[in-house]
Amino acid sequence: MTGGELRQKYLDFFKSKGHAILPSSSLIPENDPTVLFTTAGMHPLVPYIMGEPHPEGARLANCQKCIRTGDIDEVGDNRHLTFFEMLGNWSLGDYFKKEAIAWSWEFLTGHDWLALDPRRLYATVFMGNDSSPIDQESIDEWKKCFKAAGIEAKVSGPGEKISGSENIRIFPLPAKDNWWGPAGATGPCGPCTEMFYDVAPERGPLTGTFEEEVDGFRIMEIWNDVFMEFNKTADGKFEKMPRQNVDTGMGLERTLTVLTGKQNAFDTELFSPIFDKLKELSGKAYGESEETSRAMRIVADHLKAATFIIGDDRGVSPSNTDQGYVVRRLIRRAVRYGKQLGIKKENWTTEIAAITIKMYAHIYTELDRGNDKIIKELQTEENRFKLTLEKGLRILQGEIKSDGAIGGYKGLGLATGKWLFDIYQTYGFPLEMSLEELKTRGIEFKTGVDFDRIKNEFSEELQKHQELSRTASAGKFKGGLADAGEATKKLHTASHLMLAALRQVLGDHVHQKGSNITAERLRFDFSHTEKMTADQLALIERSVNEAIGAEAAVLCEEMTLEAAKQAGAEGVFESKYGEKVKVYTIEKDGRLFSKEICGGPHVENTNELGRFRIVKEESSSAGVRRIKAVLE
Ligand code: ALA
Repeated sequence: MTGGELRQKYLDFFKSKGHAILPSSSLIPENDPTVLFTTAGMHPLVPYIMGEPHPEGARLANCQKCIRTGDIDEVGDNRHLTFFEMLGNWSLGDYFKKEAIAWSWEFLTGHDWLALDPRRLYATVFMGNDSSPIDQESIDEWKKCFKAAGIEAKVSGPGEKISGSENIRIFPLPAKDNWWGPAGATGPCGPCTEMFYDVAPERGPLTGTFEEEVDGFRIMEIWNDVFMEFNKTADGKFEKMPRQNVDTGMGLERTLTVLTGKQNAFDTELFSPIFDKLKELSGKAYGESEETSRAMRIVADHLKAATFIIGDDRGVSPSNTDQGYVVRRLIRRAVRYGKQLGIKKENWTTEIAAITIKMYAHIYTELDRGNDKIIKELQTEENRFKLTLEKGLRILQGEIKSDGAIGGYKGLGLATGKWLFDIYQTYGFPLEMSLEELKTRGIEFKTGVDFDRIKNEFSEELQKHQELSRTASAGKFKGGLADAGEATKKLHTASHLMLAALRQVLGDHVHQKGSNITAERLRFDFSHTEKMTADQLALIERSVNEAIGAEAAVLCEEMTLEAAKQAGAEGVFESKYGEKVKVYTIEKDGRLFSKEICGGPHVENTNELGRFRIVKEESSSAGVRRIKAVLE
């Protein structure tokens, strides 16, 4: 089985169960200040889970590209991936636990589908707590599934050893394991049931507790069915939602690993073409030593992720803030490990990107459209980082005196972690390279530098720094997340009014090129070449404030893409949208302020917005201008 076959089977299966197949959404969430990247298939669907009707109906499925950066420093340890694909199916107030579990079972064990051996499957369920009871319904459904396969499934007691009964199949676990969401601090969540697969039955019957068997890599999680019945509010309460939803997620890489009997995702065909290229570039083979394998895993994962982030339809270039900073870190970490692998060739990262594009562009066509941009950005960042490294090295070398004393550490003549951290912060010169340089110059012997002490000091500084930046970003949402939701909704509606005004004032060549909204401001990129004049900016402000003053209603209608086009709606008329789209119209007494294709959400009336003010107009990239604006 290949990744492509698994993806196709999943979508075919859920299509056969009446699900509409959606394209993958962007990796860059639009108008959502709570996360930098799309981390799960449910993410772009939150407004629909919360109750808005979805144009494609109540049963949906897709394969979503995802980025999770939490584990960035753990990538390489076998299991963690930054980029991955998530297969998911959703019920928006349609089916619930019974069907979700029965279909999960059918897809996993059915002959025409994955045909997994039922004797190698296990399920966890929510054991209950003060806010929600034990998930008995899921237990009963799993028992039925196992029974149909001839297994009288038993429920494990807390911490029970599995040994002695092949029939212990169902494990009730606490909220930390079996309560999913919300993705941000507030939002939809609920109990979940996860499916695990025994990856090494040849080792004989299971003997440990459930936890021990998971930690020992004997059973691996492959699928998570979440029953989203609750909404977590800003004051930490769990409110029952009017509709019961299902949100499931199956990691494509993880499941392919299990299906093909591999130990980890890097051993599957989703990575081998990249390792082949790395062999060509470095002369080293994946698997020849643990050090080589680790470096290759990091390079492959990070450059794949960077390729997808830059090549997204809302693609982001390396920079020092937000998503751009993540891409920069990914590329630079890859370049460092490429150096460790001994790769000498110029612009080698673009060759890895080219392989990635070739592997995925038939599914994610944006990679083809973004091909030139991806190559250009990688080339620029690789070379910029190389220059940075050279500069850092020169500074470092300049500070090392010929007698081995180090000038930067005034007085004592010894290197310190703090000093090397400063060099890392200022020049991006990594600790390992600094230590390597010190070693090459025999510093260790001349001055008796304690390398372990340096490493400890360095990580203390790093932690202090991370703490600071975390506090800074937490401060971004001072108003609280519920307020943040309201504030972004208003700014989102304001951005529609602004786009309409821009098109009126500057001309029809103006289209949206990007939008990023936080609780504090909107940032909007649009196609236009020249710098805007003060008069033009004043006109835009006036026109938006007029629409606000008119107390115009914001109406949402669903229609086909064709009808939206006929109605003169502004928006992207590309394949990204499903058959039907939502069109938001802002008008008052026959006066049309804006008509735009958009997923929402928006306020109901422009009188909720307050006063609109442009704070900045600047160039964003060639042929694209950027406006930052606020509501006061
Ligand atoms: N949203 C759920 C997850 O990510 C399915 O596991």
